[in-house]
Amino acid sequence: MTLEKAPPGVDPLTPSVARMYDYFLGGKDHFAVDREAAEAINAISPDAKELARANREFLGRAVRHLIDQGVRQFLDVGAGLPTRDNVHEVALRHAPDCRVVYVDNDPMVLVHARAILADHPNVIVAEGDLREPGWILGDPEVRAHLDLSQPVAVLMVAVLHFLTDDEEVRRHVAGFRDALAPGSHLVISHMSPGDADGDDLAAGREIYSKSSAGGLAFRTHDEVLALFDGFTLDEPGLVEIADWRPDDSAAPAASMAAGGAVGLAGVGRLDS
Ligand SMILES: C[S@@+](CC[C@H](N)C(=O)[O-])C[C@H]1O[C@@H](n2cnc3c(N)ncnc32)[C@H](O)[C@@H]1O
Repeated sequence: MTLEKAPPGVDPLTPSVARMYDYFLGGKDHFAVDREAAEAINAISPDAKELARANREFLGRAVRHLIDQGVRQFLDVGAGLPTRDNVHEVALRHAPDCRVVYVDNDPMVLVHARAILADHPNVIVAEGDLREPGWILGDPEVRAHLDLSQPVAVLMVAVLHFLTDDEEVRRHVAGFRDALAPGSHLVISHMSPGDADGDDLAAGREIYSKSSAGGLAFRTHDEVLALFDGFTLDEPGLVEIADWRPDDSAAPAASMAAGGAVGLAGVGRLDS
């Protein structure tokens, strides 16, 4: 996309984590600055594109799993630019009565998501920041679309690592948790150091510090697990994304080089 085509309100000169992710996924909604930042990540971590694809596939498997658990309402926080197999497409394919709210704080995501999704009666797109759970859950449009007295799956997929303060991220996740009805679920995927070299992690953090998100936190298994406080994890627990209930279409984990950062994924059910 050229700078002249930047929609109003979109900053084409600062790398956006939404547009970088779109680039990793092979999409077309990115500017030169996003491609440069993404290629800089690729130079450190050649698995970046594979990880993004595996993350998307995890998201699809998680939604199908939730449908099987009887969940019919989805709140996708940090939804990202529309791509293949968006949450509502997977959900409605399996249960036509599903309702989906997409939330993001990136203006480009909002423009594209509204253009593509807005006319579907089961789907709405809301501007919101995950650091303001009360604002999102109090939004009249969100409340008109989702019945918070019934189970909701809150999806925080590849987004919590953009909050670098551990206490802050726990508080915001808890802010969503405390508003949910019994039977609700939390879905998280999150970057983790794996066996990555400390210098590589620092270089990755440096690139993301100059992005729209302002930073990136690689959290350990225990640190990500702590975000599920109040939830009981469904099998197989918190594992590498490709290992979470893999099916035939899952990205082959073996194609990822050993020694790099990894993505962890889990789905938890709210304790009653
Ligand atoms: C890497 S993309 C992940 C998209 C999608 N969840 C997925 O996993 O395929 C991260 C998304 O989170 C959004 N995001 C980052 N920080 C956010 C925040 N504080 N509040 C809401 N959205 C945020 C970005 O704009 C981007 O669209």
